[in-house]
Amino acid sequence: MTTDPATHHFSKDGSSTLYSNQFGQYYHNPNGAVSESKHVFFEIPKVPSALIEDRSSLIFFEIGFGTGLNFLLLLDLFLTNEVQTEVHFYSVEAFPVSLDMANSFNFGDFLTQPELQQIIPDIFSNLNPGTNNFIPIPNKNIHLHLFQGYFDELENIDHKADFIFHDAFSPEVNAELWSVECFQKLVSISAPVVVLSTYCAASKARASMAKAGWKVARAPGALGKREMTLTSLDESKLSGYKRINESRLIERFDSGDFE
Ligand SMILES: C[S@@+](CC[C@H](N)C(=O)[O-])C[C@H]1O[C@@H](n2cnc3c(N)ncnc32)[C@H](O)[C@@H]1O
Repeated sequence: MTTDPATHHFSKDGSSTLYSNQFGQYYHNPNGAVSESKHVFFEIPKVPSALIEDRSSLIFFEIGFGTGLNFLLLLDLFLTNEVQTEVHFYSVEAFPVSLDMANSFNFGDFLTQPELQQIIPDIFSNLNPGTNNFIPIPNKNIHLHLFQGYFDELENIDHKADFIFHDAFSPEVNAELWSVECFQKLVSISAPVVVLSTYCAASKARASMAKAGWKVARAPGALGKREMTLTSLDESKLSGYKRINESRLIERFDSGDFE
């Protein structure tokens, strides 16, 4: 019997996505799951160039592991570019999909190395509540640390993220992942030069970010969406993107505009 929190669909670029019956939303833009992930989490925050910079390690933190697509795209880039940097990918997922569901994804068709697709069912078949550490490719320096549980339950985090993939459902249905408290917690687990990206362009979400101390910018959205959001603790990381007036957003937040 399946206990899946979602049903499988194909998005318009042909790649798998899920529809969450619980949250009433798709996991990705229905116009293209892979296309959206590449744009929002890789191209706009400039992950490919960071991977080939001369540095000893890179740390990623994701909110919402979902189908595992973002990790799979990162793994594909890592192997294809023969990246030498040690990579750690931390993610959190409260409602993991079943092994059957993980076996149904077609993400391999969109990878340079299609055989990597098998890693997703392997992960889900070995997942337990709490922290799970995986080295998906033996002898390769890319590590997955997947916390099965709620973001709020994560504690004693001692790593500092260089990139955050904020990939929750929208603020209307997943409010706890867009609160000031959530973005304050993200500050505490971030390196000073962190870059956080999200598909979301809602003023309410941006106000929570600003209130928690993030510098906020707008970037072109994926697949015809006008905007997405890019934030950092270091404004120089946002150069080239149009900045949002954080003081104005904070004023609006404090006067109750977003309640
Ligand atoms: C938009 S989907 C994630 C998409 C995912 N990154 C992917 O590529 O498939 C949001 C995910 O966040 C998870 N989620 C929602 N609320 C959560 C919470 N409070 N803590 C942890 N995970 C949560 C959902 O179960 C879902 O998998």
